[in-house]
Amino acid sequence: MAKLVIGNWKMNLALPAATQLARSASRVAEDYSSDRIVVAPPLIWLAPIREVSRVQPPNFALASQTVSPFDVGAHTGDVSAEQLKGLVTYCLVGHSERRRDHQERGAVIAAQIKRLVAQAITPVVCFGETAQGDGAAPQSQITADLADDLSGLSPSDLEPCVFAYEPVWAIGSGRPASPSYAAAVIAEVRQWLTRTYRWRGQVIYGGSVTADNASSLGAEAEIDGLLVGGASLHAREFALICRRFLRHV
Ligand code: PGA
Repeated sequence: MAKLVIGNWKMNLALPAATQLARSASRVAEDYSSDRIVVAPPLIWLAPIREVSRVQPPNFALASQTVSPFDVGAHTGDVSAEQLKGLVTYCLVGHSERRRDHQERGAVIAAQIKRLVAQAITPVVCFGETAQGDGAAPQSQITADLADDLSGLSPSDLEPCVFAYEPVWAIGSGRPASPSYAAAVIAEVRQWLTRTYRWRGQVIYGGSVTADNASSLGAEAEIDGLLVGGASLHAREFALICRRFLRHV
């Protein structure tokens, strides 16, 4: 299966730096054919970045960091899936920072997924345990939380989704999950998704990914891709992460 590396820029970068970083990420994509390189700039920069990256390799794409759970109308500050259509190929849903800052969970996440799928935008559904456990496997809590986020959705709603395992304790902490731990969680969640929704697709890992751990994450067959935060803000490091993850060098 082709792999996927997404750079999540969060609320960083002014337009000139964002444009430059998008250009360099699209050049990185030229080195691969089927693997996908994606960047998720702040919402406000999506349109100008799309404008300057009109000529881009087909395996380079943009993602939104969020989307409104509503369809259209009186929702001040929101951006709808319909408005994102044509601008982005992917959209993050349920990122832990959206859960923390905007209380997005459960029915909101299910509504966001439905809106995106209706516009043929691929949801990247983030999930993961909050606290680092004492060694006990967190899978049953993770699948219970996911069941809550996905309630009311059908196998056809989920069919196009990508899932991103992001243990919250690993995000921005400099303490990534070990590749074998991430792979074990992903394997079990993947089985649960297949059993419950007949879902078959990509599960990627995020949380303190750097050029130092990209190669060992790439060696795990269960890990179909990466969601990179802080390290994706540095063009050379992001390029190195892609190379090490995708080529294992
Ligand atoms: P990080 O962020 O790579 O800075 O830990 C990952 C994410 O929030 O997606």
